[in-house]
Amino acid sequence: MDGTQDIAIATARLRLDRLSEADAPVLFAYRGDDAVARYQGWKPADVAAAEAFIADQSLLAFGTADSWCQLAIRDKVTGELFGDFGVHFPASTDDPIEFGLSLRPERQGQGFAREAMAAVLDLAFGDWAYRRAVGSVDPRNVSSMALLRSLGFRQEAHHVESYFFRGEWVDDVIFALLAREWVRHR
Ligand SMILES: CC(C)(COP(=O)(O)OP(=O)(O)OC[C@H]1O[C@@H](n2cnc3c(N)ncnc32)[C@H](O)[C@@H]1OP(=O)(O)O)[C@@H](O)C(=O)NCCC(=O)NCCS
Repeated sequence: MDGTQDIAIATARLRLDRLSEADAPVLFAYRGDDAVARYQGWKPADVAAAEAFIADQSLLAFGTADSWCQLAIRDKVTGELFGDFGVHFPASTDDPIEFGLSLRPERQGQGFAREAMAAVLDLAFGDWAYRRAVGSVDPRNVSSMALLRSLGFRQEAHHVESYFFRGEWVDDVIFALLAREWVRHR
């Protein structure tokens, strides 16, 4: 695979595909928003940082082992950027796949995250042949916890003050979902 390989995932209302250079201003606007960035490792300082992120992603083939690949979440009809969807592909399909979603504030709470993640879980446990998906969440991130639970993820651990993030020790809640559990849940 090379970095220009096309990937497009369609749902009832959404299209997930590669981020393009033209997405940089909107990507910066919501990823630079404190409310969206609060629990995330990456917060662009300016539009140039968003452009650099998109340029780096365009060089990375979707599905590259041991890497985070970021997709755009768009309105299926208009192509408007609603958010982005990160997929961490581990070194082997025996290892868990992991996801990270961010939506523009005005696009949250309308079921778009759930819809996008359900489509990616279908692929992850289908064509991509993973057996386990995991999520790691700060328990104060209520919407993220709710999203994972709504998709059938089970809480497996709650690590108390387990890592130092932005000047404080924070908790880390681990969720997991097996392929066979997804088949039952969906
Ligand atoms: C995490 C995030 C993507 C979830 O998006 P969302 O738009 O709230 O998700 P959805 O509308 O698809 O809702 C998914 C489920 O969670 C529930 N939910 C969402 N927010 C909730 C909240 N604050 N309280 C209770 N339930 C909530 C919904 O009701 C829905 O459950 P249901 O399908 O059983 O009705 C979004 O909040 C976001 O972008 N947050 C900022 C970035 C971030 O922190 N990302 C996570 C780190 S990787």
